[in-house]
Amino acid sequence: MNAKELRKKYLDFFKKYNHKEIKSAPLIPDNDPTVLFITAGMHPLVPYLLGQPHPLGKRIVNYQKCIRTGDIDAVGDDVHLTFFEMLGNWSLGNYFKNEAIEYSFEFLTSSSYLSIPLEKLAFTVFAGDSDAPFDEQSYNKWLSLGVSSDRVAKLGKSDNWWGPPGQTGPCGPDTEMFYWIGKKSPPDKFEPEDKNWVEIWNDVFMQYNKTSAGKFESLSQPNVDTGMGVERVTAVLQGKSSVYDTELFLPLFVKLSKISGCESPRDTKSGRIIVEHIRSSTFILADGISPSNVDQGYVLRRLIRRAIREGRQLGIKEKFTLKLAEVVIKEYAEVYPELEANKTFILEELECEEIQFSRTLEKGIREFNKVVDSIPLNLERKIISGRKAFYLYDTFGFPIELTKELAKERGFDVNEDKFNDAFKKHQELSRKGAEKKFKGGLADRSEATTKLHTATHLLHQALRQVLGNHVAQKGSNITIDRLRFDFSHPEKMDKEEIENVEKIVNRKILDDLPVIKEEMTVEKAKYQGAIGLFEERYGENVSVYTIGNFSKEICGGPHILNTRELGTFKIAKEESSSRGVRRIKAVLI
Ligand code: ALA
Repeated sequence: MNAKELRKKYLDFFKKYNHKEIKSAPLIPDNDPTVLFITAGMHPLVPYLLGQPHPLGKRIVNYQKCIRTGDIDAVGDDVHLTFFEMLGNWSLGNYFKNEAIEYSFEFLTSSSYLSIPLEKLAFTVFAGDSDAPFDEQSYNKWLSLGVSSDRVAKLGKSDNWWGPPGQTGPCGPDTEMFYWIGKKSPPDKFEPEDKNWVEIWNDVFMQYNKTSAGKFESLSQPNVDTGMGVERVTAVLQGKSSVYDTELFLPLFVKLSKISGCESPRDTKSGRIIVEHIRSSTFILADGISPSNVDQGYVLRRLIRRAIREGRQLGIKEKFTLKLAEVVIKEYAEVYPELEANKTFILEELECEEIQFSRTLEKGIREFNKVVDSIPLNLERKIISGRKAFYLYDTFGFPIELTKELAKERGFDVNEDKFNDAFKKHQELSRKGAEKKFKGGLADRSEATTKLHTATHLLHQALRQVLGNHVAQKGSNITIDRLRFDFSHPEKMDKEEIENVEKIVNRKILDDLPVIKEEMTVEKAKYQGAIGLFEERYGENVSVYTIGNFSKEICGGPHILNTRELGTFKIAKEESSSRGVRRIKAVLI
């Protein structure tokens, strides 16, 4: 079975049981500042897991793109990936353990679906602790389906508890399903440490909400959240021990082999890192992120730069990342149309980053060698100072991880703590700069400026409606004569988009919408879907401005009381501000 068939079978199966399909959300979480990327299928569903009604009902199914960078250093082995797809089905306060387990069992074993013989399956359930009791119901359910008690292991929180993906949110005990990949027949007794048992699916029973104080409160509704990794399951069902041996990666290796002249890049760590990182990068770029030195942009930069350096290890001299990205786009465009839609942006950004980094890579490596050569060899511990590592980062664009890798090859350590101190100082400065940009911008508190400020909120929301939810404020500057609004968007807006935005804003002005200010906690604001800059600390109140039921933003004000006071909104100019950021100047007439 290939990945395409697996996705289809999964969706078909759950649709048969009245689940509605939702599209994969973008990789960048909407309004969750506690994590950089979507790490699981449940992540975009958090408001619904917390009780908000989902427009499609209580049974949902999808495949979701995910990024997890925790294991980035392990990429190159057979299983670890930074980007992967997750199949999932959800019950939002509808069915619970019994049905969830029945569905999983049928999908795994039925000859119409995965057709896995029962003797090749094993299971784990939550053993219980001071936060929650032993999951007896799940345990008994597996047995009632004919599973031997030898094949159901009871494990603690570190194995059988899932979530929340950030610091707070829905979570609960889970039951995991394992598949035997060993050459010999599986032993009767399931030993979870045996590496021949590979986890293929996870059913989480979300009964709790972890609060910012670290408490587990019961949720108003019990939910089911499941996750099955497409790459891993495709590999095991094909009898492959490595995810790289499936059709999800093979076309990339064919291309890489042509580019590098290396006969079998699939068998090299460099080759695997390259295709894996370029696949992730292509998907991150498709969601509108550009390489940068902060947040998602930094992760993206790190992935691209590591791939480029591994390319040098394989002897590649010319530009190559965009050639591989083209293959990713071609292979995945049918499933993820955003790749094709953003192709120009993806390729341009990659090329730009590759040119920029290649220019300094050789120089940086020379500098690195100089640093290493200047360290006396007779020292007991060979260490590159944090200051030098930061210099390599700041001047040559070497992510610390790259310096560490180079250092390791020469038998050196890096003083990472000192590097982190320097890096934090640098980030703090750029954060302050960004905050100034975010918050700043009202030249005065005059009526005209205040009106333009309210119009800015309408504009922000209208842009998200017309261009998509990737639009986020990157800067705002308002004078008595005009507003200026910078926002993330990869390409020039066309005439129709500009007109649509104007139309929406003017419609809302005519709708006589009240502008209401409320004080609330950041969590509540997030829960209500407010946009804007979230403070990093929790538990503090922020003010939220709501305009009708159209816009909700965290903001310090001031604003006018009703949109009818605004007049007519007109966009005077739309232009580029910096890479991946557009700028609009607009007036009220
Ligand atoms: N959210 C669960 C996981 O990621 C299903 O494993």
